[in-house]
Amino acid sequence: MSRLPDHAVENQRLWDEMADEWVTSGERQWAGPETWGEWGIPETELGLLPDDLTGVDAIELGCGTAYVSAWLSRRGARVTGIDLSERQLRTAARLAAEHDVDLTLIHGSAEQVPLADDSFDLAISEYGAVLWCDPEAWLPEAARLLRPGGRLVFLTAHPLRVVASPLDGSKLVRRLVRPYFEVRRQDWTQVEIEPGGIDFNLPIAGWFQRLSSLGFTIEALHELQAPLGDPEEVRAFMPRGWARDYPSELAVVARLG
Ligand SMILES: C[S@@+](CC[C@H](N)C(=O)[O-])C[C@H]1O[C@@H](n2cnc3c(N)ncnc32)[C@H](O)[C@@H]1O
Repeated sequence: MSRLPDHAVENQRLWDEMADEWVTSGERQWAGPETWGEWGIPETELGLLPDDLTGVDAIELGCGTAYVSAWLSRRGARVTGIDLSERQLRTAARLAAEHDVDLTLIHGSAEQVPLADDSFDLAISEYGAVLWCDPEAWLPEAARLLRPGGRLVFLTAHPLRVVASPLDGSKLVRRLVRPYFEVRRQDWTQVEIEPGGIDFNLPIAGWFQRLSSLGFTIEALHELQAPLGDPEEVRAFMPRGWARDYPSELAVVARLG
């Protein structure tokens, strides 16, 4: 792997350290129904994936425990997963073997993928590269890796969630506490409450502009609402009540060319 930028060094350390905490959810996601994001929205509702991916070459950028890769493989795709954390990849490899799913797993950064141009028909990221990589680096990589007509699918935090995140790292508030136009990079390493890594986002128009400048056409954009439930329940620093009233997650399907 060539030299990593500072945010990737920090995020790699964090994810190797946290990998054990993600084993149980990875096992559940590998075994259970296909659900997206923090609120577990069923793929049958969201419809981000075609039913049949026979013969499709797919890559998951920041695959983690690789359950999304498993969904693609079960639809017939030949799937490669890349992740910066060796310990996350170890879980992914074990679960792939246990579930008899054939995946190619690569240890590396989604900002510098060691694979040829025009290698894939589908690139996907659920809270992987889309959250942990700089969009100025991983989006051009996704465009480079995709063949003309290929699709990019991602699901990540909605930028509104960033602007409602208090500076001390506590749970979301119903006020705007950060500038919307500066959501590109968040450093959570020094916050008081549960310090984290360095992550990235864009304003909604920023996603449109960056994707179209790379030759993508946005086919679908979903602002996700949490399903009904206890409004006080908190997932990933988000009260469900907040995520009922405001979009907490964003999902995009874009076609190259
Ligand atoms: C929340 S997981 C997302 C994957 C999957 N959906 C899951 O929940 O297991 C985030 C993953 O992004 C990976 N990651 C962070 N920075 C990365 C980078 N520069 N390149 C590739 N993967 C990266 C982390 O190692 C981690 O496994």
